[in-house]
Amino acid sequence: MTVLEFPPGFLWGAATSAYQIEGAVAAGGRGPSIWDTFCRVPGAVIGGGTGDIACDHYRRYADDVALMADLGLPGYRFSIAWPRVQPGGSGPANSAGLAFYDRLVDALLERGITPMLTLYHWDLPQQLQDDGGWTVRSTAERFAAYTEIVARRLADRVRLWTTVNEPWCSAFLGYASGMHAPGIRDHRQSLQAVHHLLLAHGLAVQVLRSALPASAQVSITLNPHQADPASADPVDLAAAYRVDGIANRIFLDPLFHGRYPDDVLATTAHLTDWSFVRDGDLEVISAPIDALGVNYYTPVSVSGRATGPEAADPTEEKHGGVSAFPGCDGLRMIKQPGRRTDMDWLIDPSGLTRLLVRLSRDLPGVPLFVTENGAAYHAPPGANGGRIRDEARIEYLRGHIRAVHDAIRLGADVRGYFVWSLLDNFEWAWGYSQRFGLVYVDYETGERIPKQSAAWLRGLIEANGLPAA
Ligand code: FCB
Repeated sequence: MTVLEFPPGFLWGAATSAYQIEGAVAAGGRGPSIWDTFCRVPGAVIGGGTGDIACDHYRRYADDVALMADLGLPGYRFSIAWPRVQPGGSGPANSAGLAFYDRLVDALLERGITPMLTLYHWDLPQQLQDDGGWTVRSTAERFAAYTEIVARRLADRVRLWTTVNEPWCSAFLGYASGMHAPGIRDHRQSLQAVHHLLLAHGLAVQVLRSALPASAQVSITLNPHQADPASADPVDLAAAYRVDGIANRIFLDPLFHGRYPDDVLATTAHLTDWSFVRDGDLEVISAPIDALGVNYYTPVSVSGRATGPEAADPTEEKHGGVSAFPGCDGLRMIKQPGRRTDMDWLIDPSGLTRLLVRLSRDLPGVPLFVTENGAAYHAPPGANGGRIRDEARIEYLRGHIRAVHDAIRLGADVRGYFVWSLLDNFEWAWGYSQRFGLVYVDYETGERIPKQSAAWLRGLIEANGLPAA
């Protein structure tokens, strides 16, 4: 049997984030985050869910790490909750909060699991939001101080560091469409947030370079949109390029070329004069990094025509009617036919191949990690302790892992792949209505039940590849 093998040392793993799994929001001196606040806004989260308990991982972390070892996971991507480390977002470290991550990292290392640490996965301390959140520069400066605290504590044990997860979501879902915390709907503020999130990244890179050994790797994770034109019509090509600008190049160009793209500056000129970008910021933002994290779930199909095929459910806009794509008025996301996950996201593994190949081509010398990929499907536990049969998830993962292999064959330098997610968890505005886990979580009892996909993944990891057919 031919096996599609991955390069030696390819890092397999599963991912989570702090607010989505930890619970224990008042334990160990943790302060409130913008998500604690947002979850209490009526109608903001489906079913009124909150992260108050989530998967109770803060208390169950040791069992969860043992479970990861049982599942044969070589890597684990997690995030640190800033409000555990600095409850108000500034000042001295809260030792109980920091100690939790210290124990978590030790537990992972004891089991031979490589930790990949993300410093910011959306849970901004509420106090900083009260001071202006990502619309103000001081938040970026405070992020650097927070980074310093975490780095000094964990530099000796953690090799893979990510500054910020998906700044697109923080800026545009948080401050433009308002679907995410802090729930603001203001295009000008969303562009300020873009810049200050990037500045936070750049300032954190400076801190990490001085605190970490040279062998450590520093990265940022983006969710680049694979924006395909709905047709070969030049109007649709231009529309897709415009979405590529506001979703991708607005991050990639400053990070890797030290400038904002001219076309994005032009299409957003009516919203802001960008005067919040100060001399020297772009040099800070574009300091070299060691890898780029890529999160991919589904492509988008873009049309420049006001009428035509059915528009996709613009989930980013579902709470308020303000677009998550500033400067893109008149463009529409088209619903393409095909199979979908429970999130109503189209399944198209080829989008991942195209994305990885494009990024590798555009960013020579920058290794890529797929830091998130996965699918939401509800598959309940079988009767009488029967296995949880989630063939649809296995099929999704198989297709996308094959797509990563295709990208590598086509020359992309991809070093690792992390399934979203280890556990069913709090899926932001969707609350607990979506289950992405390799492991089922009973939210009443906290019980964890590995799904069939977890066993399947274990076999794939052991083989470092998958059957060609
Ligand atoms: C990504 C987020 C992650 C999870 C998945 C489904 O955008 O980074 O926390 O919610 O989507």
